[in-house]
Amino acid sequence: MQNNKFLELNANENSLGMADSAKQAIIESLGEGFRYPDNPRAALISKIATIHGVAENQISLGNGSTENIRATLQMLQNKALKEGKQFQMVIPVPTFDCAEMYANSIGVPVVKIPLTAENYDYDYDFDELQKAADDFDGISLLYICNPNNPTGIITSTSKLKTWVSNAPDNHYFLLDQAYLEYVSDPSFESGIEWVKQGLSDNLIVIHTFSKLCALAGMRVGYAVSNPQAIESVEAFMSMDNTNLSGAVAAIATLNDAKFLALSLRNTNQSRQMIETVLDDLGLRYLPSQTNFIFHEIKGDLKTYIDRMRDHGIKVGREFPPITGFNRLTLGTPDEMAAFIKVLKLFREKGWV
Ligand SMILES: Cc1ncc(COP(=O)(O)O)c(C=O)c1O
Repeated sequence: MQNNKFLELNANENSLGMADSAKQAIIESLGEGFRYPDNPRAALISKIATIHGVAENQISLGNGSTENIRATLQMLQNKALKEGKQFQMVIPVPTFDCAEMYANSIGVPVVKIPLTAENYDYDYDFDELQKAADDFDGISLLYICNPNNPTGIITSTSKLKTWVSNAPDNHYFLLDQAYLEYVSDPSFESGIEWVKQGLSDNLIVIHTFSKLCALAGMRVGYAVSNPQAIESVEAFMSMDNTNLSGAVAAIATLNDAKFLALSLRNTNQSRQMIETVLDDLGLRYLPSQTNFIFHEIKGDLKTYIDRMRDHGIKVGREFPPITGFNRLTLGTPDEMAAFIKVLKLFREKGWV
């Protein structure tokens, strides 16, 4: 069990909690717990395919979307090996660190390209990312998180789209859209639309049920791509990876429009509360399109994290090379009110 003493604003979970409909679906499914989850998995794939308007063989379910990340890396490493080519992954830093962790574990070299830092924009350095792949004699996987974690911002749709559509055959894109449901910027386009348009054969898009759907503990995610790419990735996925509870909970949540609307409303309200207090305190923040916000703290992050912890709140962690900013998960409005009290106290003490 997690330590409930703390307000957990550090893991980008959805503290609204699972939908009642999801809990009920799990309870009702327990009688089937002795069977392999083929039927609920097939039903979930069918539901996701319908939502996105793609074929069922364009979906690969993951035990969390991080399994899709791992399998994509392994698939490309294996392809490179078979073709006698080298393989590398290129990532911006900071970004969600799971792809790098998996690459390290299987010996795939990782090239890290810092985000641009002009006027604290913290955007992707497209020229340098592309150069790292262009200069490499072999297969490159570009892991691009949009919106990015920890910055919470989206990158330019037109730049990304141009890059993906013009990239050579040896460049692959893993586009992580874990926070897509929170994006309100009208310029944003989902990579799934690009898959549907056939913009690139080398584009794999991943989504998760861990954020808006509040199912992080159920471990459900998926990849969307063309059927050939999905078949190749599937060869590296665990058998029957999405368990019965996760599958039925995901279907119930997708069918629960009321819960999904409430979930989005909650996060939007919490974001508004935090932006207001950060404005009042004169602390800069990036325009969050996610369920977390990256904001200035005017000081040393480690000290800030420790002090927040002393006040019962988990925040952070460090995202080098950026300093002086904290990543705050947007919890429920009640949780945000509790956080705001502490943040204001920190201001009184001169700590932020
Ligand atoms: C960008 C990104 N991708 C994936 C995940 C994890 O997804 P899952 O829970 O589906 O493995 C996270 C979680 O924080 C994330 O920030």
